[in-house]
Amino acid sequence: MDDRPIGVFDSGIGGKTILTATKKLLPSENFIYFGDSKNCPYGDKSDEELKTIVKRAAEFLIEKNVKLIIVACNTATTRMIGFLRESFPGLPFIGTEPAVKPACAKNNNSIFILGTSATIRSKRLNELIKKNIHPSQKIVTFPLVGLAEAIELKDETKINNCLEPLKRNFSKEELSSTDAVVLGCTHYPFVLRELKAYFPNADFIDSGPGVARQTKKVLEKNHLLASAKTPGSVEYYFSKPQE
Ligand code: DGL
Repeated sequence: MDDRPIGVFDSGIGGKTILTATKKLLPSENFIYFGDSKNCPYGDKSDEELKTIVKRAAEFLIEKNVKLIIVACNTATTRMIGFLRESFPGLPFIGTEPAVKPACAKNNNSIFILGTSATIRSKRLNELIKKNIHPSQKIVTFPLVGLAEAIELKDETKINNCLEPLKRNFSKEELSSTDAVVLGCTHYPFVLRELKAYFPNADFIDSGPGVARQTKKVLEKNHLLASAKTPGSVEYYFSKPQE
């Protein structure tokens, strides 16, 4: 049993979607959330820059005495989870990956996977697709360039501009016959309404439940679950003031 908090970080508000799912599954846990809005988007940063950025985020949470860190960002997970685990041995890190497995496990014929350029290009996403795809399924991967940043800025015009390429690259039939859309960036659940206009018949699948289950598993395995049965607390910190 361990009543220290769980640390969660992202390049801004996106990780809140992961936090919500984890809090739902583990209501007695305490959480410290760090939204690194100052450095959003992580996707634009070089490896060297990103190393400094994620190390600082982890150190901030470690100073708050966390027992585990959730990297609530697909981009940071893809590029930095190995570096973080090496830099802080002994501290469990949970990564966030696009929910390809649940999307493929269901009876979905046509699946879209959306994410940042870094996530869509990543070797890990390719591996996930190869491992989970059924022969009858068609999977399209597509980067929504600039969307995470536009969501962070709450800029409606920019958000709509970032979604436009869907219209330019795919026919209406293709979009409307899509059964499932994997939200491969933790910011994207915030624009579900806008995405639904493009994919009117799709189920939207995000990484929250998978990360929550994995967090529970790792806490159990390491005897780190909170002892309290009362609801836990959440503290929020941002590297730039939020409105
Ligand atoms: N929320 C991040 C993700 O899941 C946003 C990407 C970024 O900061 O570049 O990928």
